Amino acid sequence: MVDSTRPLPDAWWRDAVIYQVYPRSWADSDGDGIGDLPGITSHLDHLAALGVDAVWLSPFYTSPQNDAGYDVADYRNVDPLFGTLADFDALTDRAHELGLRVIVDLVPNHSSSEHAWFRAALDAEPGSPERARYIFRDGRGDDGEFPPNNWQSTFGGPAWTRTEKADGTPGQWYLHLFDPTQPDFDWNNPEVQEEFRSILRFWLDRGVDGFRIDVAHGLHKEAGLPDAPAEYDIATHATSVQPMWDKPEVHEVYRDWRRLVDEYRVEGEDADRILVAEAWVVPDDSLAKYVRPDELHQSFNFGYLMTPWTQRHQRESITNALAATAAVGAPQTWVLSNHDVPRHASRLSYDIDRPTRILGIGPDDPQPDATVGLRRARAATAVMLALPGSAYLYQGEELGLPEATTLPDDVRQDPTFARTHGEDVGRDGCRVPVPWHADQPAFGFNTTGKSWLPQPEVYGDLAPNRQDGVAGSTLEFYRRVLATRRRYGLGCGELHWQDLGEDVLAFTITADGGRRVQVVTNFGDTSIDLPHGELLVVSGSLDGHRLPTDTTAWVAPG
Ligand code: NOJ
Repeated sequence: MVDSTRPLPDAWWRDAVIYQVYPRSWADSDGDGIGDLPGITSHLDHLAALGVDAVWLSPFYTSPQNDAGYDVADYRNVDPLFGTLADFDALTDRAHELGLRVIVDLVPNHSSSEHAWFRAALDAEPGSPERARYIFRDGRGDDGEFPPNNWQSTFGGPAWTRTEKADGTPGQWYLHLFDPTQPDFDWNNPEVQEEFRSILRFWLDRGVDGFRIDVAHGLHKEAGLPDAPAEYDIATHATSVQPMWDKPEVHEVYRDWRRLVDEYRVEGEDADRILVAEAWVVPDDSLAKYVRPDELHQSFNFGYLMTPWTQRHQRESITNALAATAAVGAPQTWVLSNHDVPRHASRLSYDIDRPTRILGIGPDDPQPDATVGLRRARAATAVMLALPGSAYLYQGEELGLPEATTLPDDVRQDPTFARTHGEDVGRDGCRVPVPWHADQPAFGFNTTGKSWLPQPEVYGDLAPNRQDGVAGSTLEFYRRVLATRRRYGLGCGELHWQDLGEDVLAFTITADGGRRVQVVTNFGDTSIDLPHGELLVVSGSLDGHRLPTDTTAWVAPG
């Protein structure tokens, strides 16, 4: 029996770089305009050449796609849009051949309203075992006409929808922290707990190397479902002050799952199956609880993702995050972009205070400055990939793709757009299909030219065939950074800050064998001297021998 409280000190995930593929938008093999699993398989060599350790796939399960697959109707099957289970097996086999691990998404907070359990619940009576798998309640008011409490959906509007009885009269209400087509499970119910153990085993037995856990901080709600404090918006305050987030009982779920995945460990082999939390929880020490030794392996550091681009904010954010996970003996998990936030090549062009919520960028918003955005994005990536711990990349960031900010309203599909009546344009702008070849239909996304969201013209110029082998391109920069990170073992290193003035972020990473790499980012307006030594990586062009603004260099001290 392997002791789960003592992972191998050099277990693969502790410093892994994991690449997120959003299946609808990566590669489309059948030309219907929506990416699919065979498309992914055919492009896995891009990831091997990039130099990442693993691929995380956003949901590809059977789903009506009301929230792009985060509304799962069958957790054990592949949606025909994306292929078949055999396609999934072929993908996993090919990834493993290439030395890439495969992480899949698990969506345990809610199912689709098309899930057999929810349909049975709607057909069943209040108080029935079918309804007890979800959160059904009577409404308030004389006729139950008001929702059971004041909770709002993360996507806007009330978090409760009223059902209709068979005779057409209004019935109970059910809770959905997201879209009405995403009813929340009741995690106090042992049947729900057992079902998810079985789903984990289903995919583990198929050979997956881990799970990204959607809404990991939301599974348990405060007993009695009390009203939320009126002054807090559900989407901006994911802290335990809210009755729906970060309740102590969620940690029991993760202890249980950790024991389960650890059953798949093989003595002496670096083959841990891992669990990574999507938990938008602050402060850092609350988030670190998710990665205590007997819980999850990783938890995305979204506080870092939201950190403003200033020396002071960056240093403070990194310092606090490292201290919080060190206190529980876990590595940090860094991330700058994903399918829920504007791409960092656009986001970072704005000089903003620390945001509490990241909204989409629409045509009526001030438009990002592409040059500043990309320069800062590359500098930020070079910081992130030097830091101790693991890191996640989002598809297309290695090409420097900007956010698609001018999508017309009528193509938008993110439910956030409709539910906030356009106040938040939503997340479609970071989900646009990626380019592969500048001169092919849909920039090589498929052969028909169809694309479920229109691609900006500039995506053609950023296609891999325009960047491959081109010195200074973003793609070659990512390859170099990743190779150098691996060569020096930076992800397992130790960070020491250096004080080089208010405008300069500077630290050294001491890796195995005492080898050191110095990392310097210039936040000031004027160029600065490079540290002495061998220049290993630079995120942009040098100004003679000097480091210009918004540029990061890695130097091996001479
Ligand atoms: C987080 C996912 O990343 C997001 O895309 C989804 O809309 C919500 N959870 C609900 O599942």
